[in-house]
Formats: sequence, C-alpha cells, structure tokens
Amino acid sequence: MVDTQVVIVGSGPSGLLLSRLLHLHGIANIVLERRSQEHVLGRVRAGVLEAGTVELLDEANAGARLHREGLVHQGMELSFEGSRHRIDFGALTGGKSVTIYGQTEVTRDLMDALAEDGVPPLYETEAIEIRGIDGSRPTVAAVDPDGAQREISCEFVAGCDGFRGVARRSVAAKVQTYERHYPFGWLGVLTKAPPVSRELIYASHERGFALCSMRSPTLSRYYVQVGSGEKAEDWPDRRFFDELRRRLDRQAAEALVAAPSIEKGIAAVRSFVAEPMRCGRLFLAGDAAHIVPPTGAKGLNLAAADVGRLARALIEHFREGSPAGLEAYSESCLKRVWKAERFSFWMTSLLHLFPESGAFGRKMQLAELDYLVGSRAAMTALAENYVGLPFD
Ligand code: APR
Ligand code: PHB
Repeated sequence: MVDTQVVIVGSGPSGLLLSRLLHLHGIANIVLERRSQEHVLGRVRAGVLEAGTVELLDEANAGARLHREGLVHQGMELSFEGSRHRIDFGALTGGKSVTIYGQTEVTRDLMDALAEDGVPPLYETEAIEIRGIDGSRPTVAAVDPDGAQREISCEFVAGCDGFRGVARRSVAAKVQTYERHYPFGWLGVLTKAPPVSRELIYASHERGFALCSMRSPTLSRYYVQVGSGEKAEDWPDRRFFDELRRRLDRQAAEALVAAPSIEKGIAAVRSFVAEPMRCGRLFLAGDAAHIVPPTGAKGLNLAAADVGRLARALIEHFREGSPAGLEAYSESCLKRVWKAERFSFWMTSLLHLFPESGAFGRKMQLAELDYLVGSRAAMTALAENYVGLPFD
C-alpha cells in the first residue's frame, strides 16, 4: 500500500494542472494516467484560453512558452449571408482578450514542469476502483503497465479522468446528470498553412456551421458541421475544403490555403453536467464533471477554473486545517459551469444548421444574428462570455 495526500486520476489538462499547483504548495500527490504520454499529447483539442486560465498557468510556473508563442486575440468574426462582422472584445469588455494556444501545448508545458520536478504522472497505469470516499482514508486500486495491481491510500481523490473515466462512474448512484445530444458532429482538420484571417471566423450557413481557427501563423485549424453518422474517412481533403469554402464569405474562401491535412477527426457535440461535483472525499473536475459543445471554446477554461478552486481548497485544508473551500467547491464550480453551459448552448443553437427547425427556424437564426451584430448590448453579452466570466 502506497500513501499520499491526494490521488489524481487522469493526466489531461485538469489532472496535470492540479498536480502542479499542489506540488508547488508542498502537497504530495500521485497522478494515474491509463494511456501513454505520447497518446495524451496526440490529442488535438481546442486552443482558446481565457485570461483566468493564463493566470493559473502562470501560477503553476508553466506559462513561459504560452507568453512567447500564444497569439493574443482582441476579437473574432461572425460570418453569415456572405458578410463578416467583427466582435471587438477589447472595446466591448474594457480591454479583455483571449490567447490562442493549443491544448496540446498546455499539456506539454505542464508535463515538462512536473517531469523537471521529478514528479511525472504514472503513465499506462489505470485506476480501476475508488473505495472508501465516505471515510477518512479513501483508496484507489490501479493496474500497473506490467499488469500488477497497486493500492494507493490517500486523504482525497481528484477525478480528473474525463467524460468516460472511473471517478464519476464510481459515484453514479449519487450524482444527477443533465445531458443534451446534438444531431451533428464537428469534423476538424489541422493543416500546415497560414490561417485565412488574423482572428477566428465563426460561420453560420444554410449548409451548416464552419469555423476557421489556428494554432500559429503557419498552422491552421478548421471545422465543418457534419451529420452524426459521418466518418472522417468519407471526407478526403478536397471534399472538406470544397465544403468549407461553400460556407465561408468570398474573401475568406479566396484566402483559404487547402494544404494537406496532418490531422483529421470528428468530435461528437454534447452538453453534459453531473451534480454534485463532490462526493465525500472524491472531487470531480473538468470533463469528468461537465462537457460543453466546442462552439464557445469553454471546455479547457472550465476545467482550469474547477482546478483552480480545488487546488485552493485543498491547500487551505492541508495548510490551515480549514474545510471551507472543500465544502463550497461543488456549488461554486457549478454556478460557473451552468453559465458556460448556457453560453455554449446559445452559440451552438445560433450558429449550427438544425434541419428539424425548418425554414422558419433558419429565419429566426438570421434575425438573431442580424440583431446581434447591430446591437452593442448584444455584442457585449457575447464578448463578455467569450473572453470568460470571472473565475471567482
Ligand atoms: N485511470 C487513469 N486515467 C484515466 C482513466 C482511468 N480509469 N480514465 C480516463 N483517464 C485519463 C484519460 O486517458 C485522459 O488522459 O484521464 C484523462 C482525462 O483527460 P481529458 O479527457 O482531457 O479531461 P480534462 O483533463 O478534464 O480536460 C478537459 O480536454 O477533452 C478536452 O474539451 C476538453 O478542453 C477540455 C479538456
Ligand atoms: C480550435 O482552435 O480548435 C477552436 C477554437 C474555437 C472554438 C473551438 C475550437 O470554439
């Protein structure tokens, strides 16, 4: 039996950031990751960081490369009916911005920081059962890369193991879940080519939604809405870029460089929340507790906000003996989670094609977009949610 203060299940952004913050405050923790480090780094995810997320990465002493290589964006554009309309974050939110920096890079920076301190995650080590969370000494049973079982006892368990992890499954009878499935997916492509525009373009078209994003001045990330049953292999590059062009305004379509894809995949689109985010000595954080449609770019930022709260609460417990942060964790996280769920649901409903809504539904979307880009109040509401509501 191995003892530690906190067992963290999962080494995605949530688990890595939590491990780092706890380590910097002298709190012993072990991270269990069922996949290899290469597999975790191979996941291509969103890349829009709110200021609160950047601040937490700085607090984790893992923000240096982000500040060197991240792209600060003061706005984004909405494209519909052949025109583009800029949402000026700076003017509408008193100077706030977002930083474009791939989640893979965030993950890499946190992995490097943990390795430098000699406390890397235990890779290819799967947590298979979490026991005793209602007592004072929970244990996590795990299987090593060589198949040997290990038992780790601790004071708290952090379920940072994503949507399909063991943590939420282990308290399934204690949590209430809320879910919305969408009848489409996001087909994403990564290409070594300059972006079509300096800022992101969210396009709403009668053929479906499209998004032009980026990772750097030479690496572009594109998405098109596709039917739920579609397969990436049915979308060769030519078909993808032809479809993307159809959904963009003329200027963007002409600027599009259709370089060979270096990564292509389809992600399901769903809204999901599990309540509460705490059961006894088990705390859920990030995708283990909630999923948002990628439209609002909130997934990574919500995970960071959960982790910031959980880290502070655990530090308060271990350093000051105060239970206050741990007792407030679930309710305080969920207040922010539901606001992000609302914003992501709203943006998804506004920008995607819903055939079942018919011609009238499409007219309602166009009317809302037309109103939105003509109203400072409406654009302010979009901007303040997109750059991120306050972390506290
Ligand atoms: N034992 C050990 N590790 C596990 C287990 C298990 N039983 N189950 C899952 N994991 C690992 C997964 O392999 C994954 O690396 O937990 C990690 C969870 O990472 P994420 O799914 O990335 O979740 P999170 O860290 O909360 O990050 C949320 O990731 O999916 C995106 O859009 C999402 O940007 C958001 C971010
Ligand atoms: C991305 O760059 O992958 C990205 C950007 C914005 C989103 C979703 C994904 O809303």
